[in-house]
Amino acid sequence: MARQSDTPYLDALRAYAARNPGRFHVPGHKGGLGADPALVEMVGERGLSLDVPALTYGIDVGDEPTPFREAQELAAAAWGARRTWWLVNGASQGNHVALLALGHRGHRVVTQRNAHSSTIDALIMSGLRPTFVSPELDPELHIAHCMTPDALDRALRETPEAVGATVVSPTYFGAVADVEGLVEVAHSHGVPLVVDEAWGAHLAFHEELPAPALTFGADLVVSSTHKVVGSLTQSAMIHLGDGGLIEEEVVDRCVTLVESTSPSSLLFGSLDAARRSAATRGRELVDETLRALARTRDAIREIPGLDVLDERLAGAPGVFAYDPLRLAIDVRGTRVSGYELARRLREDHDVLMELAGENVMVAVYGMGEDATAASERLVAGLRGAVEAASEAERDTDAVQFAPPPPWGELVMTPREAFLGPQEVVAARDAVGRVASESLAAYPPGIPNVLPGERLTAETLDYIEQTIAHGGSLRGASDRALRTLRVVVES
Ligand SMILES: Cc1ncc(COP(=O)(O)O)c(C=O)c1O
Repeated sequence: MARQSDTPYLDALRAYAARNPGRFHVPGHKGGLGADPALVEMVGERGLSLDVPALTYGIDVGDEPTPFREAQELAAAAWGARRTWWLVNGASQGNHVALLALGHRGHRVVTQRNAHSSTIDALIMSGLRPTFVSPELDPELHIAHCMTPDALDRALRETPEAVGATVVSPTYFGAVADVEGLVEVAHSHGVPLVVDEAWGAHLAFHEELPAPALTFGADLVVSSTHKVVGSLTQSAMIHLGDGGLIEEEVVDRCVTLVESTSPSSLLFGSLDAARRSAATRGRELVDETLRALARTRDAIREIPGLDVLDERLAGAPGVFAYDPLRLAIDVRGTRVSGYELARRLREDHDVLMELAGENVMVAVYGMGEDATAASERLVAGLRGAVEAASEAERDTDAVQFAPPPPWGELVMTPREAFLGPQEVVAARDAVGRVASESLAAYPPGIPNVLPGERLTAETLDYIEQTIAHGGSLRGASDRALRTLRVVVES
């Protein structure tokens, strides 16, 4: 039996390359022989020799358990899942899979309103009709936190035909939901809970971190392994819990539906290696990063006007716990916007943030990086950026963004609105029409409009005002909101 210190899939790739077989199959670079020198320089001869197609005997077909199967079983054991699937199109693919799987149970679903765009795309793919639940809004930071169990309960009562619910935890900013409470509510209504844990692949590996969703009985968990745990970009996993409310065969079928028939062995191999690292050294690596981040938080707090989010956030509405591996910087005290500070960091210090908003900037740390060295650069850059900000950039009357008005009535499914007949109209003529695209004004980034919803004057005014106050619009085909795509109703 393979152990967590093994890498069965990677070993099978290596054994294949070492044998130097006649490669009369794709990819056409033939293990690197036919590759452009720039490609050889980029990936390395070794990497190219390991780039093999799916259905290669001795790797993912042949005697059972194949190395492919064994390696995914190790991943399931490492994360505590009944079964784990590797994904090559990110956690985005995981969300597609999750909603397609729920679509096997019926037609209605409860979904967190500010779900990742891949969840909205998955509503379009699956044809599910959503009942949206608002996350809790932070009135000071102007960011969205998590969905509460009470809000989920209300939505499930309102939607007795719902066949499942999807929530996000942790958020981009490190807020962790009361997943135990959410699972309890979902199960009391007899439906599975899907947790988009894209930002939480590391949670299983240190006791000081909030516990991961699978430990509370979540039914399906989407995990973006590349984000923090360190596999190659685009590689991710989906984990099936023990609840038995979602069939394993259904998930398997949905993974195949949204996967290339040529998944990358390099992405898969990187998942095998990242799993080994997390399972065998995760605690030690996270420990080091946590200590370094505690020092980094102290150093950032010493910069005039800067503060950091931390476990003090726990207990705020929609925040059950806080992920200390996330560094979210509250810039309000500088009276300079996060957008402006991020621009200065980039232009003057070549320091790039993961996310910048009006009040908060987010820096991502990987599980195993040298966080102390990385932080020195970040702290020096932040100090420089704050000192260099001119008086003109310091907006003494910080703009107050009003909370968004209620979203419009859903008159058709997102799928019907996205795929049905549509036209582009001037924004002023769009009131009363049904949107066929999404509009999300930042801050706080909760979609104001999703495909299938009736557009209201109040919402369009709100978006216009947010843009006029320096906010931005995501999802729209015209980001200045001069025009938008609407459904042609017969
Ligand atoms: C909550 C959430 N879910 C899913 C995704 C998609 O992840 P990926 O980029 O791995 O497809 C993201 C990406 O940022 C995310 O923030």
